[in-house]
Amino acid sequence: MAYENILCESADGIATVTVNRPDKLNALNKATIQELDQCFSSLKDDTSARVVVLRGSGEKAFVAGADINELANMTASEAEILASGGQRLMDRIENLGKPVVAAIGGFALGGGCELAMACTFRYAADNARLGLPETGLGLIPGFGGTQRLSRLVGRGRALELVLTGGMISAAEAAEMGLVNKVFTNEELMPAVMKVAAGLAGKSTLTLRVALQAVNEGLTMNLGGGCRLEAALFGVCGSSEDAKEGCAAFLAKRKPEFTDR
Ligand code: COA
Repeated sequence: MAYENILCESADGIATVTVNRPDKLNALNKATIQELDQCFSSLKDDTSARVVVLRGSGEKAFVAGADINELANMTASEAEILASGGQRLMDRIENLGKPVVAAIGGFALGGGCELAMACTFRYAADNARLGLPETGLGLIPGFGGTQRLSRLVGRGRALELVLTGGMISAAEAAEMGLVNKVFTNEELMPAVMKVAAGLAGKSTLTLRVALQAVNEGLTMNLGGGCRLEAALFGVCGSSEDAKEGCAAFLAKRKPEFTDR
């Protein structure tokens, strides 16, 4: 499928999605959000895409936010529709059923930070600057940022970032758990692709179930989450891939998973 604002390439089980508006620091206008939504929708059922890498085009930004040109004069219902559309995309990414790794170089602000937070995990270049600057525009985050940030880093730090609108460095983001690891700019993509290749070699069934256990479990209390885990352990434990994985370990050979 041809897109105007994003690129989507696939090789060796890894789909790489690039937000491609570098002259606008990859800002998410409505058209880009729609294209990302279509792209992730088709990646969900694309068995050749076992893992997804999400990045921004150019050196300066992952994504510098929602497109401020489209935020300038909204009615209440237009603003709500915009937020709902952004949230639908974030939910789609979070619940894709396969890992989505964010590779953050440069600015990840507002909707860009929210996009990164919807990913399964985040690796950043040491030049990354993250934040939710919406209060400076008289707005609040609307693509799930107030909810996902507090779940990732805790209420106090989330409120500090949301209310002040301040930017933090990659190192600060890593320290608080907003990004998982920091690399030099040159090391970032090779490191991301290496981890993605490792994930692509695993059983898609196992990864899907692991994602479900963590994501769905977080919406439950501990007891309910553990019961869900036991049920999902049953799904994995009886799978052909569990038989193959354990047999391969015992035979001291590499497993050959069939995603069943
Ligand atoms: N929406 C629309 N356009 C954006 C944008 C956004 N979120 N972020 C950057 N751009 C555009 C700029 O308007 C500029 O376009 P122009 O060349 O046509 O004037 C271009 O991208 C380059 O940005 P510029 O501001 O010149 O780069 P900089 O290096 O001086 O500053 C930032 C970088 C990220 C600090 C600055 O662009 C910025 O503050 N962006 C907005 C961040 C934000 O508030 N995001 C949340 C939105 S809800």
